[in-house]
This record gives sequence, structure tokens and C-alpha cells, in this order.
Amino acid sequence: MGEAVLQVGELDVWFGPLQAVRKLSFALQPGEVVGLVGPNGAGKSTTLLTIMGMNQPTSGSVRLGDRELVGLSPETIAQLGIALVPEGRRIYAEFTVAENLRLGTFGRRQADGLEADLAWVNSLFPIVDEFRDRPAGQLSGGQQQQLAIARALIARPQILLLDEPSLGLAPTIVDGLFDALAEIRKRGVTILMVEQRAQLTAEFADRSLVMRGGEIVLTLAGDEPLDPAQIASAYFGA
Ligand SMILES: Nc1ncnc2c1ncn2[C@@H]1O[C@H](COP(=O)(O)OP(=O)(O)OP(=O)(O)O)[C@@H](O)[C@H]1O
Ligand SMILES: [Mg+2]
Repeated sequence: MGEAVLQVGELDVWFGPLQAVRKLSFALQPGEVVGLVGPNGAGKSTTLLTIMGMNQPTSGSVRLGDRELVGLSPETIAQLGIALVPEGRRIYAEFTVAENLRLGTFGRRQADGLEADLAWVNSLFPIVDEFRDRPAGQLSGGQQQQLAIARALIARPQILLLDEPSLGLAPTIVDGLFDALAEIRKRGVTILMVEQRAQLTAEFADRSLVMRGGEIVLTLAGDEPLDPAQIASAYFGA
């Protein structure tokens, strides 16, 4: 293994008396696609939100290269090169598509190159340009998810965090979504994606981490056939 781009170390996150994440450690290599799967309440969203600075851990570290991110604001973390596509997309229904997209530019590290990044995002998701003057609330669920990913990419992140991007989408739309993720991966963006679709994700990702009870209970290699019994026991406990 080379130099990790992101290193999560011994992370503990508590909500009152409830521990959502327990001594969680993992690393992302540059350009790697890692899946994060597991049952409801496993701590997947909490992990992404903590990386993004939206939750504070009680202990542990999140390192981007040599830089410690714990304690930094979400805005600073965005400007350092991490973008989150949150659960439920967080699209502003009454704002136009273009206005929603523009929100992503606050996370940009450099002022130049915006035109080229817009062109790339528009080629990846043509509806973002085609429907730019429409209220975003008029888009379908799949189109809103495209907009949410486009908004994250316009910040030109080094690392893209996705929280259940396929949730609520029809199977054909999910296929298109994964095609877009494959294009994003080709650009060298490191991806950490939370997904309910464990099988699809495990096949797509270089590696998938199965989380339960705030811990990683199993790691699935992308090129190995899945053992349904092993996954079931990881999900539900022995
Ligand atoms: N802001 C919060 N306040 C209190 N408890 C929380 C908060 N956020 C999450 N939790 C709790 O922490 C645990 C982990 O939640 P989390 O949302 O990270 O799970 P998840 O793996 O993303 O689940 P899902 O698949 O349902 O999205 C759950 O028990 C949840 O109820
Ligand atoms: Mg979640």
C-alpha cells in the first residue's frame, strides 16, 4: 500500500448514551473506490458526516494527507478537497437547477478552471445544463440525484463521499448512476460510497467495508465472488 489519501483512525462517535461509531479505522488509497455497506443504524452516515466535520467525534482522527480534519468546519474541509452528497440529496426545490449547482462552487479550492469543470459536469449529466432554469423540485428523483452529484463535483473534490445515491431510484436509473460513477472514477477521484445495494456496490468498488454496530465486521474484495452466507452473518450477526 502506498500513501493513503484519507486515514480514519480509532474514531469514536457518541450521541448521548449511544455509541454510533466504535474505534473505526480504515484508509483510502488515491483513486480507490470503497463501498460502505451494512444494516440500518450501522453508523455509515455518521462516518461520512464525521469525516465532513458535521459530527464531532469524542476521540480518534481523520487525516487528509498530513492534515488533521477533526475540529475543522465543514466549509474548511470542503475547501481542502472533500465533497459529500448527503443522504436525501438536500436539493433546494424552489431554487433553479443552476442555483443549486452554484452552491457547490463554495467548496472550490481554486478560482480558475470553473468553465472546464462545468463543461465536464454538463457532459456527465446533460440534464443539469438542459434544465438549468427550472426549479429543482420539478426534476425526477434520478435527476435530482444527478444534480446533487454534479453540485459535489463542481467543487472539484479529491475525495467524493456519497450517502446512498441509489436510494429510491428505479433499476434502470441506478444503472445510469453507476455508469456516471465509473466516469468519475476514471478522473482519479477517490470515492467512499455508502449503499444499501451491497452486491452491486461490492462488484463496482475496489473493496467494500461491511459495518455493523459502529464497527467494520467484514471487508469484501471487489474481484472475489460474494458469499451470501458470510454477508448475511456480517449484516445480522452470528
Ligand atoms: N444526530 C443524531 N442524534 C442521535 N442519534 C443519532 C444521530 N445520528 C445518528 N444517530 C444514531 O446513530 C446510529 C447510527 O446512525 P447512522 O445514521 O450513522 O446509521 P446508518 O448506517 O447510516 O443507517 P441507515 O442505513 O439507516 O442510513 C443509529 O442508532 C442512529 O439512530
Ligand atoms: Mg445512513
